[in-house]
Amino acid sequence: MCPMPKNADQLRSARWFAPDDLRASGHRSRLMQMGYDAKDWGRKPIIAILNTWSDLNPCHAHFKHRVEDVKRGVLQAGGFPVELPVQSLSETALKPTTMLYRNFLAMEAEELLRGHPIDGAVLMGGCDKTTPALIMGAISAGFPMIFLPAGPMLRGNYKGEHLGSGSDAWKYWDERRAGNITEDQWTGVEEGIARSYGHCMTFGTASTMTAIAESLGLTLPGASSIPAADANHIRMSARVGRRIVEMIFEDLTPDKIITEKSVENATTIAMATGCSTNAVVHLIAMARRAGVPLTLDDLDKAGRKTPIIANIRPSGKQYLMEDFYYAGGLRALMAEMKQRLHLDAMTVSGFPLGETLQGAVVYNADVIRPLSDPIYHEGSLAVLKGNLAPDGCVIKPSACEERLRVHEGPALVFDSYPEMKAAIDDDDLDVSADHVLVLRNAGPKGGPGMPEWGMLPIPKKILKQGYRDMLRISDARMSGTSYGACILHVAPESHIGGPLALVRTGDIIRVDVPNRSIDMLVDEETLAKRRAEWTVPADKYERGYGWMFSKHIKQANDGCDFDFLEKDFGAAAGEPDI
Ligand code: FES
Ligand code: MG
Repeated sequence: MCPMPKNADQLRSARWFAPDDLRASGHRSRLMQMGYDAKDWGRKPIIAILNTWSDLNPCHAHFKHRVEDVKRGVLQAGGFPVELPVQSLSETALKPTTMLYRNFLAMEAEELLRGHPIDGAVLMGGCDKTTPALIMGAISAGFPMIFLPAGPMLRGNYKGEHLGSGSDAWKYWDERRAGNITEDQWTGVEEGIARSYGHCMTFGTASTMTAIAESLGLTLPGASSIPAADANHIRMSARVGRRIVEMIFEDLTPDKIITEKSVENATTIAMATGCSTNAVVHLIAMARRAGVPLTLDDLDKAGRKTPIIANIRPSGKQYLMEDFYYAGGLRALMAEMKQRLHLDAMTVSGFPLGETLQGAVVYNADVIRPLSDPIYHEGSLAVLKGNLAPDGCVIKPSACEERLRVHEGPALVFDSYPEMKAAIDDDDLDVSADHVLVLRNAGPKGGPGMPEWGMLPIPKKILKQGYRDMLRISDARMSGTSYGACILHVAPESHIGGPLALVRTGDIIRVDVPNRSIDMLVDEETLAKRRAEWTVPADKYERGYGWMFSKHIKQANDGCDFDFLEKDFGAAAGEPDI
């Protein structure tokens, strides 16, 4: 266990409440205004619970009540819990894209923690961007914290068939566009695909990011796999409340947990689960907040050497997160990967990772495969570079058809998402299955916020010919539940003059995933001419947060943080004057 360097008189919150002066008296009197007295807060750690509940976030619907279980735990352990609501970032409801607001929530979390009389924090998140956002903010704030994952929703069900969030929606929608299923059948899918609170239950972005949070050491052991609707989730929440109080006296701050070793662990586990492509931007952003200089090349290396052993959709064929939990969950998967992990990395439990994995057992070896029998030997992620993406781009080889991993074909270029949408179902569209669909102006600055437009729909004409995959390239992202030969996050993006801006319809594009290359076969002279003709597109926002976003957002290969939030931008903000 960690030493106990702190006593109650050294609590940060005591600066607000303990002194015998007018300011502190005001603070005490305002807690009394809410019916508390010194017995509630005196000489006790004050625990902030950052709650991302909202009436428009179905993934976090249970947080409205689940927060009471966290409070119960805090009180049991002798702390004083305070709930601080933060924005919810509902992946389904918030437009144009939640990624536009990830850094907003990160800033909110950081400022809220630093500005209030608190000693530590519980971060309640799970729906896609909420996880990296809360963690980024809390790392920068620097106080002891535990991430409390929302947990996956129950499996989807349609006429006895298990439906997976996102993945099965895309699949059935293509069948509907191809004329293979009726409107009634589609309604059945709509009703059955999301049946309880909790985040998406494929290994999409939400499950990927909560698994990353756990393998970074930021959740209680096993927490990320527990389904939201399981009573174990309630008990875990109370345990989080108890544990965070202990962490204050241990002074177990994030810098002791997020290190090069834990980032490497998280990278390995992400790859072994067939992670969402979104993990790339979030992992880089979180690691860099902690001062760990993670790069796309590190992720490519991990992708090359890590087998995918979680047989969960979309990388796996059959199973969903509920099955993963019953098969032993992330602890069992990490135990299977033991030789590839730094077992001495510290976790919020107060024990190094290796100790938290003791006793973890795989109960179903088809769901969590042994390393000797993975579903893919490599291929969660690959980073390609070439004259089309000098700073890199990302593809998920495990999710695309084999024939497209080495491919050469003519480009069909769309300058915007509405332009693509208007054209894609046109029976006269001049396109073949060998074409490479290109979408630009959808990157961090161009989107702005890199909307999840990267899984461009297969043109109706091609669907009717029986094809279900084509090579697609963009500076956008795609949903973690998506699949197909989609090359994403092209950097630098077209909006700032990256080479993607210079491609024209008909140019031949060559992609070679095994050799990690992506090029347009256009000579340098022609490209120079096009570059000279190119003009900078206008930013979409002329005021407000969107304007600030466009001024300060970094490129995808740098994690899309704001430049002024990076660890080395300036001196740390320090403690507020009281
Ligand atoms: Fe919330 Fe997928 S919509 S996790
Ligand atoms: Mg998603």
